[in-house]
Amino acid sequence: MKVLYETAEVKRWRRKHSGSVGFVPTMGYLHEGHVELIRRARAENKNVAVSIFVNPTQFGPREDFAAYPRDPERDLSLLKQEKVDVVFMPDAEEIYPPQSNTWVEVGSVTERLEDAFRPGHFRGVATVVAKLFGIVEPTRAYFGQKDAQQLVVIRKMVDDLNMNVEVVAVPTVRELDGLAMSSRNVYLDPEERESAVVLYKALSRAQKLWGKGERSAELLRKEITSLIESEPKATIDYVSIADPETLEELEQIEDHALVSMAVRIGKTRLIDSMTLGK
Ligand code: PAF
Repeated sequence: MKVLYETAEVKRWRRKHSGSVGFVPTMGYLHEGHVELIRRARAENKNVAVSIFVNPTQFGPREDFAAYPRDPERDLSLLKQEKVDVVFMPDAEEIYPPQSNTWVEVGSVTERLEDAFRPGHFRGVATVVAKLFGIVEPTRAYFGQKDAQQLVVIRKMVDDLNMNVEVVAVPTVRELDGLAMSSRNVYLDPEERESAVVLYKALSRAQKLWGKGERSAELLRKEITSLIESEPKATIDYVSIADPETLEELEQIEDHALVSMAVRIGKTRLIDSMTLGK
């Protein structure tokens, strides 16, 4: 496994590897969810590339950039076990040299849900992902479905900018009690960890009601909201039942809907999502 720190080294590696490249961009502190992305990339491509970069531009001034969990040694040994071919671990100067002055703004799908709470977040995500795609030139790139809005934003960017990469969505990996795997779960104390399962309970409630034929998005939103509010440690940022492509809120569900939510458990902000229908 090659560990590379510079853009030029990755470009050189890519020129020497003409077969398909499956790419998993990450911010490190890897967990089973990342492993799932990597295994899928391994199964579908000749080469697998992973990046580890805690991207400063997607964090707001009062967010957890400095405190974001990091453990590069553990990450590298896990990546080696998974037989990853190349790991790109740039520093911030490498990705954002002083002369860098271009940003990717994706438009209306970034202006909903997360944006009200994390303004500018998706400008940072889209910019870094576009840069990484330009450096790695992947055949396919793998993203978790948990970050549903991120997936929509990246698909839109790839489509609008005619990028030559296939975006692959991989189902969310969950703990035994349903909590979605996330690097931020490490912030939860034992009591909060128990409370955090409320997000999955809420999604499951929506799925059950959907299964029984409920098609009113408003009713589903109310049900989910009251279930989460019954958990004393939980504070809702948003609960959304939206069109999976445009992210516009729905009143009535036709064929499918994206249920997504951001909930703070104590000081930890967790997101989760699930698709209803096809
Ligand atoms: O999902 C993440 O970990 C990040 O948003 C990503 C896609 C690696 C961009 O920094």
